[in-house]
Amino acid sequence: MQQALSSTQRGYDLIAPKFDKTPFRTPDAILQPMVNRIGPVRSALDVCCGTGAAMRWLRAICESRVVGIDESQGMLAEAKNRLADAPGDARVELVRGDALDMPFREEFDLVTCVGAFGHILERDEPRFIASIYRALVPGGRFVFVTSEIPSVTEPSWWMARGFNAVMRARNAVLKPEFVMYYLTFTWPAIWRKLERAGFTTNAERDVFPGFPSAILVTATKAR
Ligand SMILES: C[S@@+](CC[C@H](N)C(=O)[O-])C[C@H]1O[C@@H](n2cnc3c(N)ncnc32)[C@H](O)[C@@H]1O
Repeated sequence: MQQALSSTQRGYDLIAPKFDKTPFRTPDAILQPMVNRIGPVRSALDVCCGTGAAMRWLRAICESRVVGIDESQGMLAEAKNRLADAPGDARVELVRGDALDMPFREEFDLVTCVGAFGHILERDEPRFIASIYRALVPGGRFVFVTSEIPSVTEPSWWMARGFNAVMRARNAVLKPEFVMYYLTFTWPAIWRKLERAGFTTNAERDVFPGFPSAILVTATKAR
């Protein structure tokens, strides 16, 4: 109940110790194929890193530095514990900050973001994408996993729309808002916004066994 009445940030602070046992933590069956596909890089940034699920895999492919940014201090504290024995030699850094306005300038070969697009409002997507674009070196890649919007005949469409309607009603009445909506940052809808920001994009299907609707998107910054 306390979580339901909290802001997004406070909600995550409260759930942090239990987060890895919830279905909201991105499964390794998504993270491992994603990271294997990327291959070695010098430095990587995971946006909305939570408890460090993706960073555990990313550290092994990073030569010098893997950084996670999240607005929840509670989630970052969990990440610090969980990453202590992550395989690899790259320096691990955890930064508290807003994904919409990150303090990084042309520092990373790779930026990833998984399981967090529901917290980015559609009106904020251009700011979010611009913040990632700035963080990448020229030629750097923004890699993420998304899906298409299911057809209205599928139960998942109705569940997502129903959930979103309840959240909108909750946020209209209760402050602070808890920002979490389904079916955001979907493919191909997000393609135009990425291209407008200066990325060229590539989408791959059938990368994740057991997740037929998952799409791996690689958006590359101009050189
Ligand atoms: C569902 S969790 C996903 C965590 C992790 N990426 C994973 O897949 O397991 C979403 C995370 O996004 C963070 N978050 C939400 N909005 C954010 C924002 N504007 N800036 C930074 N972090 C944010 C939350 O604090 C939370 O840790």
